[in-house]
Amino acid sequence: MTEKAIVVHEFDRRYSLADRVLAEIGTALEVLSGASRASRPNPAGPYMAASAPELSQAEARHAAGLMRVNHVGEVCAQALYRGQALMCKETSVRKVFETAAQEEVDHLSWCRDRIRELNSHTSLLNPLWYAGSFGLGVLASAAGRERNLGFMAETERQVEAHLERHLTDLPAQDSRSRAVVQQMKEDEVHHRETAEQHGGTPLPMPVRGIMTAMSKVMTTLAYRV
Ligand SMILES: [Fe+2]
Ligand SMILES: [Fe+2]
Repeated sequence: MTEKAIVVHEFDRRYSLADRVLAEIGTALEVLSGASRASRPNPAGPYMAASAPELSQAEARHAAGLMRVNHVGEVCAQALYRGQALMCKETSVRKVFETAAQEEVDHLSWCRDRIRELNSHTSLLNPLWYAGSFGLGVLASAAGRERNLGFMAETERQVEAHLERHLTDLPAQDSRSRAVVQQMKEDEVHHRETAEQHGGTPLPMPVRGIMTAMSKVMTTLAYRV
């Protein structure tokens, strides 16, 4: 038996599919209830109301809408990568998804904190975003190693472009949101590069187009709801 086969065998023996599904339900509830905690400090630093950026009501509402979109993006990334990892038999590939998902927890937590600082709320549709993305992740994992990693690389590429736009769209003086978005963008670049280095192949144009269209629907809805 090869080393890889032994690792897979050990993994399957330790955790049945039912164990893993139950663990996933627990993680989903943690993400959706807002209980997930960042493992790295917030790039914007500790919040102090007295020294927080001064924003008009309209600016604060706009910044909250953009950060809500980013929070939904992280809910989706979390669900996608966990779904992609769930059916993944190769330990090294599964590790890529699990490590990225762990860093997305930081993003999730930072976005949620900034939304609260702006006296707003996360998306009411988060359970739907999570369930849909998780299902998509499981589907992607069925497409094989290269496509599965390619899907991750394309997701990160689109998120990176979207965060770049937010750096332009956010109110100029909103340094706290900007610090969070900037760090997220750097992490997403790293996630994309990791997926490519592990063998992710470019997705066909129609798939990339569908992903862009889905992301457009998500960002439009999440800004408002
Ligand atoms: Fe992220
Ligand atoms: Fe990412």
